[in-house]
Amino acid sequence: MTEHGSAAAPAGPARPARAGRVWLMWIVAAGFGAVLVSPYLMLDIDGSRLDVGGGAHYYLLATHVFTALVALVLGPLQFVPAIRARRRVHRAIGRSYLLAGVLPSALTAIPVALLSGRLVTQIGLVIPAVLWLVTGWLALQAARRRDFARHREWMMRNYALTFLAVTSRIVVPLLLLAQLPFSDTLSRDSIAAGAQSMIPIGQVLGWVINLIIAEILIRRRRPAAPRLHAGTAAR
Ligand code: HEM
Repeated sequence: MTEHGSAAAPAGPARPARAGRVWLMWIVAAGFGAVLVSPYLMLDIDGSRLDVGGGAHYYLLATHVFTALVALVLGPLQFVPAIRARRRVHRAIGRSYLLAGVLPSALTAIPVALLSGRLVTQIGLVIPAVLWLVTGWLALQAARRRDFARHREWMMRNYALTFLAVTSRIVVPLLLLAQLPFSDTLSRDSIAAGAQSMIPIGQVLGWVINLIIAEILIRRRRPAAPRLHAGTAAR
């Protein structure tokens, strides 16, 4: 059995197909990540896409953004079978993902969410930030116990939280599009106001949708429970 219990995984053509999907996810993550961090690269507070209250708020946000990028880009690599098979590489990427990505990004996301001044953002992003830390910790503990099946499941949940950055940015324009048939006035200002009000909702839906998808995938991958004998079942 390999490190992640892949003895139970289906053999044959399923592997290249899975690796292909993971690389596709990596391309999407890297593309979104590049666009998301670009306004912060020069560390110019005037270039911030978010309204920030001052220097401290801005530097917390910039730290969150740069470290989140590390997690966003490294995460999918851990699901590539060829990389997972190389234990040292897998461990090195995993440590960087958690220590240089998730940990600092979640710790800075909490004050950044509280400083937003929007209740939905405060509650709706502190919860995933805490879950980001908890699922990362549980994944690490499972790996230390050498329970690689659970380790993989906690990492899937953890990366589902990381991927909220992508999903929430897809959900907001979709919500705006869904509203179009019901709006009487269509102006630049009304669209901008609509986008502003949809952002907190998109932020929450982003991680809720991802966690639901991760849970479906996790349950699909679990081996079926052994069937009871007819006699035992009848008792
Ligand atoms: C569990 C994961 C994450 C949490 C809890 C989180 C939390 C937050 C919070 C609270 C804000 C401020 C939002 C506001 O004031 O409206 C924010 C902004 C931001 N986050 Fe994250 N974040 C996460 C993942 C990521 C990832 C993976 C990236 C990828 C690079 C990212 C990039 C950004 C950017 C660029 C902003 C500034 C807003 C903008 O310029 O669009 N975040 N995040």
